[in-house]
Amino acid sequence: MTLLGHEPCSLQNLPAEVRVSFESETRPLVCHEKVLYLLDQRCLPRTVQYLACTTIEEVATAIREMVVRGAPAIGIVAAFGFAQGVSALAHQGIAYDEAMIDRLDQRLRQTRPTAVNLMWALDRMTGLAKRLFQEKTLSPEAQVERLFAEAQTIETEDVASCRAMGMLGASLLKAGARLQTHCNAGAIATGGYGTALGVVRAAFAEGKCSRVYVDETRPRFQGASLTAWELHREGIPVTLISDNMAGALHQAAQVDAIFVGADRITANGDTANKIGTYALAVLAKAHGIPFYVVAPRSTYDTTLTSGALIPIEERDAREVTHVGEQAIAPEGVSVWNPGFDVTPADLITAHINETGVLYPPYTQAIAAAFASTQL
Ligand code: MRU
Repeated sequence: MTLLGHEPCSLQNLPAEVRVSFESETRPLVCHEKVLYLLDQRCLPRTVQYLACTTIEEVATAIREMVVRGAPAIGIVAAFGFAQGVSALAHQGIAYDEAMIDRLDQRLRQTRPTAVNLMWALDRMTGLAKRLFQEKTLSPEAQVERLFAEAQTIETEDVASCRAMGMLGASLLKAGARLQTHCNAGAIATGGYGTALGVVRAAFAEGKCSRVYVDETRPRFQGASLTAWELHREGIPVTLISDNMAGALHQAAQVDAIFVGADRITANGDTANKIGTYALAVLAKAHGIPFYVVAPRSTYDTTLTSGALIPIEERDAREVTHVGEQAIAPEGVSVWNPGFDVTPADLITAHINETGVLYPPYTQAIAAAFASTQL
């Protein structure tokens, strides 16, 4: 498969430093000498291969085509793509101005609409680029270095947040808990370690997770192809179910707690996450199972008062009518394919972010957390 005009690379063909980084820990990306190497998540679990992006255009395509996906991961990748965009201007000797910076920002911002980490990372990068531009104390080349360093910082901070959330989430569990998750909120959806799967990893290490039930996550199968892959290769006991088995699983009293990630959390605690999350939360409520949302501060959008205001990505009908190349529905049938849904705050037992565990009433808890921690 080719994409972005590049042949995919196997692990062996990557530069040595990049290979070591991918081998040492499960991660979605490595930036090395201004080239962004992405694990091609569309090929998992069959094939582990990588794509090298050298331009903002390639990065935008990689986000849109879901080579990389997951809210924190697309924010980090966009930050590096933005730095590559500024770098290209500097390299061509173009004296860039604020309007050009805005155009680079827009190119990436328009790739996917729901996960607010993308906008958060671009706000941070664009703000810095404009400050550097106005200050005029650094050469264009030094400004580019500073932007790549900022993208690297965003990545490093995200991994630290995931680890902190993992410990906080694990502290809520008793020994041997049976957990459930939806979609992929793992290492490859973040800088590394994962949000919901960060809790699973921390809990497993502490003897507080005996099994994880993973919803396959129709229609893109992130649960089956990514979450099950991440957990299985680390030896964490995983049981895959199709999405419509969750009710029976809960009825059979097989789940002690549910942890999911998020793509956008509004000021009242409503949470957009992968389609199917809402149905799972309703089931959890009906069966008295605690339902936790695990997401860093970069996933909060306190400019929105409720989840009804979150833009929900509508995706191609083919994702529903086909499995791979195989049609499973009559040609021309009408399809509705929202990529995300909104779980109302009253179905959420607690929100876990890197600064703590927030309990209802969320409007007050989130406002207080933001007031005290410079979100
Ligand atoms: O469409 P995707 O695969 O980008 O959606 C990802 C999800 O919904 C994840 O569950 C969410 O981003 C949480 S990521 C830690």
